[in-house]
Amino acid sequence: MYAQMVKTGVKALKSEAEMSDAERAFQARIDADLRIEPRDWMPDDYRRTLIRQISQHAHSEVVGMLPEGNWVTRAPSLKRKAILLAKIQDEGGHGLYLYSAAETLGITRDQMIEALHSGKAKYSSIFNYPTLTWADIGTIGWLVDGAAIMNQIPLQRCSYGPYARAMVRICKEESFHMRQGYDSLLALCRGTSEQKRMAQDALDRWWWPSLMMFGPPDDASVHSAQSMRWKIKIFSNDELRQRFVDQTVPQAEILGLTLPDPDLRWNEARGHYDFGAIDWEEFYRVLKGGGPCNRERLQARTSAWEEGRWVRDAALACAEKQVRRQAS
Ligand SMILES: [Fe+2]
Ligand SMILES: [Fe+2]
Repeated sequence: MYAQMVKTGVKALKSEAEMSDAERAFQARIDADLRIEPRDWMPDDYRRTLIRQISQHAHSEVVGMLPEGNWVTRAPSLKRKAILLAKIQDEGGHGLYLYSAAETLGITRDQMIEALHSGKAKYSSIFNYPTLTWADIGTIGWLVDGAAIMNQIPLQRCSYGPYARAMVRICKEESFHMRQGYDSLLALCRGTSEQKRMAQDALDRWWWPSLMMFGPPDDASVHSAQSMRWKIKIFSNDELRQRFVDQTVPQAEILGLTLPDPDLRWNEARGHYDFGAIDWEEFYRVLKGGGPCNRERLQARTSAWEEGRWVRDAALACAEKQVRRQAS
């Protein structure tokens, strides 16, 4: 397993002999499944990797509210609108948990936001696709939140305490998100033929980007081997992607929808579904800013930040006043 990880990771891992005493003790704690807490010693790279991963996760939660916000005023019923609002609020809460978890590593919220707005920090590329019809909202819940759960369940066991603990509640809420999405799609699929066509069209557009959510294939994944050794990643990108496909095929069958992949078929020998090649060029294009909504999403975030400045200033001024009052 270890040798295989070294081979598949792009960066070479340090051998035992190359590690310092502190690094060896740190790795031993992780190997013994002990948690690392904010005040514990940790290698600089571990800290940097976690800051990158957790802040990117936080940004994804917050930017992920935008494509769904597009449909709040057009939800087809009061019930669907209430569900959608609750989900979007959950995502905002996930962002706040995660920013807080990242702050325990010594970065400030302002630094993270600045990195997002300058384009230095990434968020999940899936949110650079537009939500064209109401069926997109159900599809996002089913596939995008479904893929997020697949990624996040193992993170409840990751080595960094604050991140692992934040994941517990987040995963519970994500499972509600996925179920509401599936339920909404089921209603469309049992509705008129036009509604069912709308559901199929949404699935056709969201399927491949959902598979890309697990990141590049293992042999091209820059950070994988070290992250797995540090247990900030428990399963590889390809393993999680395969699980997601295996879980989703029967769900699509119940909906009566067709996954847009002519190569998709059950492989008896592997005990898994085989699926077609992913267009990694599209993945990297969207990642680098060339997706349909990259500019719009960042614009929405930066203007929310600018327009909310007076609220932050007022809250800070109020807090300072209270401190002064208590002191006098
Ligand atoms: Fe979330
Ligand atoms: Fe969610």
